[in-house]
Amino acid sequence: MDVRTLVRADFADLEEYAPVKPIEVLARELGLAPDEIVKLDANENLYGPHPAVREAAARASFHIYPDPYHSALREALAEWLSVRPDQIVAGAGADDILDIVIRLVWPDAVVTAPPTFGMYSFLARVNRARVVEVPRLDGWELDLAGIASAVRQGATLVFLASPNNPTGNLASVEEIERLCALDALVVVDEAYAEFAGTTFVPLIAEHPNLVVVRTFSKWAGLAGLRIGYGVANEEVARRMMAIKQPYNVSVAAEAAALAALAHRDELMDTVRAIVRERERLEAELARFPWLRPHHSAANFVLCGVEGRSARHVADALRRRGVLVRYYDRPELRNYIRISAGRPRDTDRLLAALREVEEE
Ligand SMILES: Cc1ncc(COP(=O)(O)O)c(C=O)c1O
Repeated sequence: MDVRTLVRADFADLEEYAPVKPIEVLARELGLAPDEIVKLDANENLYGPHPAVREAAARASFHIYPDPYHSALREALAEWLSVRPDQIVAGAGADDILDIVIRLVWPDAVVTAPPTFGMYSFLARVNRARVVEVPRLDGWELDLAGIASAVRQGATLVFLASPNNPTGNLASVEEIERLCALDALVVVDEAYAEFAGTTFVPLIAEHPNLVVVRTFSKWAGLAGLRIGYGVANEEVARRMMAIKQPYNVSVAAEAAALAALAHRDELMDTVRAIVRERERLEAELARFPWLRPHHSAANFVLCGVEGRSARHVADALRRRGVLVRYYDRPELRNYIRISAGRPRDTDRLLAALREVEEE
């Protein structure tokens, strides 16, 4: 039998989500040891988890199923964010929360504002929703009129990131409020909010159609453990809880997240160190006459490349063990995105860029 007839035909030409490769695989490809690689391609936290977080994860009871209600975590998060625990839904990373939301809304059409995080359009396609792309304007500002028009034409879900990946800019309270006045569920992905020091969570009290998505991947250095959460109006959160996979957060991930919250002051010191490094990165990159760094509120810097191919630059850096993301597509022609790491990571990057400049 032809098994292709048993599966969704529209998946035959689904463009796969292109995740970054694991560091061991990249090291093998480059003939380097994993610790020789400067990994600035996925906005991870190169300081890694706090030792107490690592210990908490290791002590978790792996032989017992996790709490499907994530009660302890939701309580701790609620206290941190000044919301009620029943407004919080935890998941296997922010990605899981985005997936839960789109399955909950089951929209005909989804609005995205490119250039932005690729997961939104990927999830839309998997859920057979049309993707209405409303490109950002000059300065990567949101095209509010364009988004409103897409909603009037039937889109019921809007996905935005603030700070946006890869442009690094923030949306304003006024913009989010204007979007929340539309007849759509507005999802603001705050994966990088801790680096910006701002959040739209307080707006949920006024706007029941706002869902804020957050994660421990970036500020707490837990990308590999997969732990994120959504904050929403109680009714929306209750329905999200009802359709999520019961054991979507592992015992290790929940224990690690609780420990990260208990040690958040120390982790915030690391966040501040990363922000200082991002500022240094912005200043140093601007010294290269062929690079145009954009100001960012996150832990990465988007940089236009002039007079050279961004792909060539990324490849030349990669040969030197320094990994960055490059983009060459209509809304982002000839750009690289560089994550902010530790001072020594910036040093290695800058040394490699100087070599590339001489090539
Ligand atoms: C805007 C944005 N949202 C979500 C994620 C994924 O977060 P998580 O690791 O919690 O799934 C990323 C990861 O790069 C991101 O850039």
